[in-house]
Formats: sequence, structure tokens, C-alpha cells
Amino acid sequence: MKLSLTARPLETQAKEAWIIFVQNKKPLLSGHTELIKLLNSQIKKTGFSGDYAQTLVFPTFGKVQAENIVLAGLGDRKHFRMEYLERAASAAVRAGKRAGIKNFATVTATEISKVSEAAFVRAVARGAAWGSYSFDTFKTGSKKRELSITFAGPCENSAACRKALSEAELESQALLATADLANLPGNEATPQKISNWAQKMAKENGLAFSVLNKAELKKKNCNAILAVAAGSAQDAKIITLKYKGTNPKAKPIVLVGKTITFDSGGLSLKTGKHMEWMQYDKSGGMAVLAAMQMVAQLKPATPVIGMLAVAENMPSGSAARPGDIVKAHNGKTIEILNTDAEGRLVLADALSLAKLHKPAAIVDLATLTGAVVVALGYTAAAIVGNDHKFNQTLIKAGDAAGERLWELPLWPENMDDMKGTFADLRNISKSSTAGTTNGAAFLANFVPEEIPWAHLDIAGTAYEESSKPWTDAGATLFGARTLIEWIKGL
Ligand code: BES
Ligand code: MN
Ligand code: ZN
Repeated sequence: MKLSLTARPLETQAKEAWIIFVQNKKPLLSGHTELIKLLNSQIKKTGFSGDYAQTLVFPTFGKVQAENIVLAGLGDRKHFRMEYLERAASAAVRAGKRAGIKNFATVTATEISKVSEAAFVRAVARGAAWGSYSFDTFKTGSKKRELSITFAGPCENSAACRKALSEAELESQALLATADLANLPGNEATPQKISNWAQKMAKENGLAFSVLNKAELKKKNCNAILAVAAGSAQDAKIITLKYKGTNPKAKPIVLVGKTITFDSGGLSLKTGKHMEWMQYDKSGGMAVLAAMQMVAQLKPATPVIGMLAVAENMPSGSAARPGDIVKAHNGKTIEILNTDAEGRLVLADALSLAKLHKPAAIVDLATLTGAVVVALGYTAAAIVGNDHKFNQTLIKAGDAAGERLWELPLWPENMDDMKGTFADLRNISKSSTAGTTNGAAFLANFVPEEIPWAHLDIAGTAYEESSKPWTDAGATLFGARTLIEWIKGL
């Protein structure tokens, strides 16, 4: 998607289509009297609902300089959230694309309360770029068409708008490039291939890359992640990417991603339905990769370290058995009572290694529990951590970035539930309720209390099982947008 900005008004943009956002059934435009009349009559005639991510494409028959109009709904003002704008832009591009449209224009001026011009440009640009994406690596004969969108002026603070646009462009490049990896199935995105991909991305973007393979993991007593990979023909890895920061004296923040290339459940084997989509169990790591590429391009002050805990969870004669006891990197022993609770095992070692970087904060992202879908559906990720204020900071960044986070508790009772019978810890709780909190309670054992730490359970938000107006089915890279928003503000 080619993104550009001009100070000249929309009327000068003779494109195939203009994208006009609609809130409370009204087009968001001021001035443009003739155009507004045309739009209002179309909205009335067609009964266009203007609900979020609803679109309407119609030809103008020469009444204005664009051949078509794409109306993009934002829903009702009182429910507005940034993701509705980003999704509406994406949905508009997707609807236009289906109608054969390649070149779009829209207006920079925003009538949306509390959304600055720059925030508007960022969300629309990022949404439009996402709307241009489809995962067609395995579709024979598919061609990529280059699309474009121009933001027509005037923009009151043109420097801020330009900055937002160029940042959105770099962010989108990272999201789209990583999506091609994140959408690969288990036979393609093996731990080795993810490692190669990360190494290449690091090299191209000036990040330091290192990887702990099976032998190094053994030497470092990372026996929890090794147990997860024990049944697989693919070895486990912990990958580390480092961005120095423009303020190298600052303490780094560490991002840790669960990167299970396929989760069969292991000997606690999943049933057919539950095993579908488990190539997306690497989504936490994919969000970290996308965030690291963004960081490398946007060059914030704070040093950032990204870690991927990579393994494939398979049953076999060499697989870990329910009841097995292993000792993790920090010396704590774990009873593996259910081999399908593998995410927390790979994260245990990675989180324990993370503290060696003496971080100012740690954030982990993981498709950890089906329970988060029961609690929050597909709309929000859960955030659970050891510092309520830190959680709030990330929730706020998520709101600005169009990703919803909802805090769940972590209490001493939850910690007790994860204590083992024959070892320090058990990997499933004694009570079978509050599954998402239980997972977080287990992880809390691998992070020092004095380091602010937040765990994002993205099992409900990391991928779409069917296409939506704003996206194809597949990886969403949920979390990457929140991370970069937070890091830019540090
Ligand atoms: N990868 C799954 C969680 C998951 C479920 C992700 C649905 C995406 C969609 C995770 O490893 C898992 O299997 N969790 C178990 C934990 C249980 C055994 C304590 C679960 O949620 O059932
Ligand atoms: Mn599992
Ligand atoms: Zn899993």
C-alpha cells in the first residue's frame, strides 16, 4: 500500500474512490456541501447502517471528481474506539479492492471527538495497509496488486500528520511482513525456520540476534522448554533480539513471546476440533517479532529486548509424560500434570532468562488459555501481572493502539493453587476455575516481584477463524500495536 499526504483538498484528488467515514449515520466532512448532499441522499436511499466496519461502495457518475465513493461506518459516537477507525479503513479498502479499485483518497480532517489529526492518519493508514493484505503464499497464480491511498488536506499540524503517516508506514511494513510468517502452518513454520526468519529480519533491521539451541538450553537448565519439545522431531529454541536504544544508559524492557509452532497437546492430546488453528499458537512470538521490527525502524530511546520461546508440542515415545517432574532455569521444580499446559512451561524458562537483562519491565504475550475466550470472548485480551499501575499503562496504550486489554486478578489464593504435590509447582491448578489467572499465577513464579511484569493472554484475539469485513481469516498480530505505542511513549 502506497501511503501519501497532500495539503491540497479532496476535490483535487481524481481517484477511483474516495473513502468517507460515517459516524452516527453522518459523513465526517465539513465544507464539501455538494458532496455531503450526495452522501446523505445515498445513506437515506440505501438505508446504510453506518455500523462499525460496514461499508457501501457506489459510483458517482461524474457528480464529483472520484469515480466511486466508499462509505465506511464507525458506528455510534458513544461507543467509539480507535479500533473501529482502523477497521473501518481496512474494511473500506477491502470493499474497494473487491470492486476493482486500486487508488483511494480520503480526508485528513477529522470530526471525531478526542482523535487528533495525527492519530486519525495513523489509524487510517495502518488500517488501509492491513486491508490491502492477503496471505496468498500458497495460492497458485495469485498476483499482488499495488494499492494506494492519499490523505487530502489541509492538515492543521502537517508535521505531526507526516510523522504519523511515516510511522504508520513502517509499522505496517512490519505487520505485513510478519503476517506472512505468522500465517504459515506447522509444517512450514518450524522452530528452525522461525529462527532463520528472525535472524534475517534482525540483520536487515540492525538488531542483534542470538539463539539458544538444545545443547545450550540443556547447559542453562532450561528443562521446562526442553520437556515441551521432547516429543517433537524439532528442537526447542530461545531466540533473543536486541535493540540498543538511543539512550543506552536506560534499563531495557523485555518482551517475551510464546512461540509454539504447533500445539497438539502432547500426550494430553487435544481432540480434533481443539487442534484446529493450533499453528497460531506461535502468535505471542509473532507479535514480539513485529514489535521488534517496528522498534528497529522507529528507534525509540529505550533499549528493547525481544525473546521467543520456540517449541513444537507433540506426542511420541520421547514426549514428556503427565506426572513428569522437571527443574526450570530458576531452579524451581515443576510437576507436568497436563502436557497441554505447555505455554507456561516454555515461558517459565524464557521469563527466568529475561531477568538476567536487569529489565525495567517485562511483558509476555501468549495464546495461553482457552479460558480467556470464556472470560472475554474474541474482543479483548486479558492482562494479568504483578503491578496494577503497570497494567493500566499498557491498557491505555492498547486503547490508543486499537487493541483492547482487560485486567484479571492475581491473588495469593491463585498462587497457592499452583503449588505442587511432589514438586514446587504444578502446571495445572488444583481448582479448575479461573484458568487464565491460573496460567499467570504459574508464570509469576519466574519473575522477580520487584520487576513490573504483565502477561497478555491473547488466545482469543491472536487470529480470526473466518474473514471479517476488516480482515481475512488468520493472524492479527494482536499485541504488536500496543507494544510499540507503549514503547514510543517511554
Ligand atoms: N494453546 C492453548 C490455548 C489456546 C486455546 C489457544 C484455544 C488458542 C485457542 C494452550 O496451550 C492450552 O492448551 N491450554 C489449555 C490449558 C489447560 C490444559 C490448563 C487450555 O486452555 O485448555
Ligand atoms: Mn496446549
Ligand atoms: Zn498452547
